[in-house]
Amino acid sequence: MAQLSRRDFLKVSAAGLTLSAAGPLAIVGQAPREPIRPRRPAVVCSRGEYWGRKVNEPAWEILRSGGNVLDAVIKGAVVVELDPEDTSVGYGGLPNEEGEVELDASVMYGPTHNCGAVAALRHIKTPSLVARLVMERTDHMMLVGKGALKFALAHGFKKENLLTEKARLQWLKWKENLSDEDDWLPPADGKYSEGDRPTGTINVLGVDADGNLAGVTTTSGLAFKIPGRVGDSPIIGAGLYVDNEVGAAGATGRGEEVIRICGSFYVVSLMRAGKTPQEACELACKRIVEVNRGRKIDFNDKFIALRKDGQVGVASILGSPDRPPELALWNEDGFQVIRGTYLYEYPKS
Ligand code: GLY
Repeated sequence: MAQLSRRDFLKVSAAGLTLSAAGPLAIVGQAPREPIRPRRPAVVCSRGEYWGRKVNEPAWEILRSGGNVLDAVIKGAVVVELDPEDTSVGYGGLPNEEGEVELDASVMYGPTHNCGAVAALRHIKTPSLVARLVMERTDHMMLVGKGALKFALAHGFKKENLLTEKARLQWLKWKENLSDEDDWLPPADGKYSEGDRPTGTINVLGVDADGNLAGVTTTSGLAFKIPGRVGDSPIIGAGLYVDNEVGAAGATGRGEEVIRICGSFYVVSLMRAGKTPQEACELACKRIVEVNRGRKIDFNDKFIALRKDGQVGVASILGSPDRPPELALWNEDGFQVIRGTYLYEYPKS
């Protein structure tokens, strides 16, 4: 194997969590649970109890009453986008290294196999709604940066300040801790912890009673990123993929790794080849570890999947018995949090 350059090393080890990728790729963690009864319609999102209920409930209301599946998943995603308490999606998301919030989102609609996305979009609280307009009101699939903002304004969206006080204070603390050699002094309340630099995101996937699928992925991306950095979320096939004959998948976590394996497309392709949603999510996590062989793994990625019949899967690279990967499901059996599998225990800090 080619020697790793210092740059390669830095690219994968900066966060300080270290875990060898050389071991066998066995599933180490699985929370005990009964297999779910696949039912249609159904909506899933890549969160647990708290956000799962908030997001899935409005989506379920639309699906239960026979509404459109794309309307349903977007209605769910917008709940998080508009909530300033979530610092990884939409309004209130953590900003880039210059203190500007830049949002990424994608949508995909199974019946038409059409999709739309926006990346590095500033000043608009609901990028998923803009991504939908890119799909429905342009002949393009992705708009970025200033072009995406102009497009949103043309459609009547309001230009707003997305940086909340909570997010600004976290950014300032990160910035003041960056270096001992610049003129920003460390804050009185101590060191910035790497754990405070998340890549939170949300995927919402749905299937209606007829088996039509749709999905949305939305995020503020990696906190304190280089301006213009685009993760996996707006990239169709990476952060989201929907195939109306098979199912849908979405990814959260370190987007760069998901892009490298075309993660969500990989999950759906595995389901097309006969793998269960659970197996497909696990194999995507293993694939990321495989392409990182010989490197340190200091990040996490998680995949969720929804098959056309309503069966679901969820897996991550890192987890623990207390913090397994989760997805929230709402179907005719009600609301459930599904706990999935993981490859490695979180490293002890
Ligand atoms: N998965 C979100 C991101 O990396 O931007």
